[in-house]
Amino acid sequence: MESLETKIERMPQKKLYIESYGCQMNFSDSEVVASIMIADGYVSTKIMEEANAVFLNTCAIRDNAEQRVRQRLTEINQVKLKRPDLIIGVLGCMAERLKTKLLEEEKMVDIVVGPDAYRDLPRLVATAESGQKAVNVFLSREETYADISPVRLDANGISAFVSIMRGCDNMCSFCVVPYTRGRERSRDPETIIQETKELVLAGYREVTLLGQNVDSYKYTNPASTEAVSFAQLLELVALVSPILRVRFSTSHPKDITEDVILTMKRNENICNYIHLPVQSGSTKILALMNRTYTREWYLNRIEMIRKHLPDVGLSSDIIAGFCNETEEDHQETLSMIEIVKYDFLYNFTYNERPGTPAAKKLQDDVPEATKKRRLQEIVDLQRSYSKILNNTMIGKTVKILIDGDSKKSNEMLRGRTDQNTVVVFPKENYKKGEYVYVFINSSTSATLLGQAIGFELN
Ligand code: SAH
Ligand code: SF4
Ligand code: F3S
Repeated sequence: MESLETKIERMPQKKLYIESYGCQMNFSDSEVVASIMIADGYVSTKIMEEANAVFLNTCAIRDNAEQRVRQRLTEINQVKLKRPDLIIGVLGCMAERLKTKLLEEEKMVDIVVGPDAYRDLPRLVATAESGQKAVNVFLSREETYADISPVRLDANGISAFVSIMRGCDNMCSFCVVPYTRGRERSRDPETIIQETKELVLAGYREVTLLGQNVDSYKYTNPASTEAVSFAQLLELVALVSPILRVRFSTSHPKDITEDVILTMKRNENICNYIHLPVQSGSTKILALMNRTYTREWYLNRIEMIRKHLPDVGLSSDIIAGFCNETEEDHQETLSMIEIVKYDFLYNFTYNERPGTPAAKKLQDDVPEATKKRRLQEIVDLQRSYSKILNNTMIGKTVKILIDGDSKKSNEMLRGRTDQNTVVVFPKENYKKGEYVYVFINSSTSATLLGQAIGFELN
């Protein structure tokens, strides 16, 4: 007679397909979701059409992020027409923001799950399998998924995200994140170190520590009174292995400390790169945004950082056309870009989000065309600086970690410098995961091109 085990083995396994939108945190969460579902008997698939369950892990930061998800739901519902037993789940920030409204608006959604409710997924999926809709959008003050080993999806086997905290306690007036992700909480450092060690053993060479505001990381072990700070955590992770590169994101200008910068200086394997979103160069706008720092404070932080790390790579987020932004305020943003000389910028036009303090108290009074024009001026200015900056790299040799084939050709490899600039070079016999020195011979505004010269600097 056939044993129960063989019977179970012969049973067709249910397949899960996950698509992620939004920030790195969401991509990292999808790996926790995959882990929970695999423990429940699912296998992960990259082909949506063959899945039994399709999850969209969504973002709510701007309206266009939500529109993309709605469009995708329409497409997935075409598949569901032919396969009515297909389970469609909306997870993440849009699920949290819209809650049961999503079920009413989007008739074809079966489950709605907020970012703190992923442990409940097996029950929610089972409810959906029995033909009922299921929702869990409960936000927690404790959940960090600390004990869950993420299943690396779409991994290049070299770089991984490690979530160190969840939620956000800042109240930037434009931002939905505090509402979609709840209160800030920090993950037990022991589990972070353990996860990092496992990644190194599995061949990974780079981790990015993730949180909405990493500088306010603070973990107090119930058995002790001393808290672990972000600077301490960063050093603990860096000490896991000298061949592991450590990155982190996002730093907040009001909280970044000299301690963190000195920790970066002391540890060669902590990358010389900081993403320090400024949002605007005008103190008046920063106050309306409730960023709680001024233009002078921000510039002072940049000075402090560059004093210790003269060749640091810097990037930023900027919002064009926030409420009450005048031409003078916009000019201050442009001058901020000129003074700081960022390596990269991520720019957005302001998009009012329902329920945020700005939506309640301020008028979205900058015309759309003006927002777009200001955004373009920011983009053009940054592009001209990136070009100049990348040009100065020609003739120099940089050390990079190879993370895979270049996007344009599989005869070429790509990697990143310490400062996070992309470098592309002919493959020869070099391989993913190796640290290699590359001589730079040309550049564009976004990429450096060169020739590998070996593993040691002669
Ligand atoms: N925690 C990070 C940011 C997370 S959101 C921080 O504090 O910097 C990523 C970026 O999206 C923000 O930095 C901001 O530039 C942009 N953003 C957030 N809400 C927005 C909105 N309503 N309209 C336009 N851009 C927005
Ligand atoms: Fe949003 Fe501000 Fe929190 Fe960043 S720090 S997630 S911008 S509220
Ligand atoms: Fe979007 Fe949520 Fe991240 S709103 S940017 S996915 S925290």
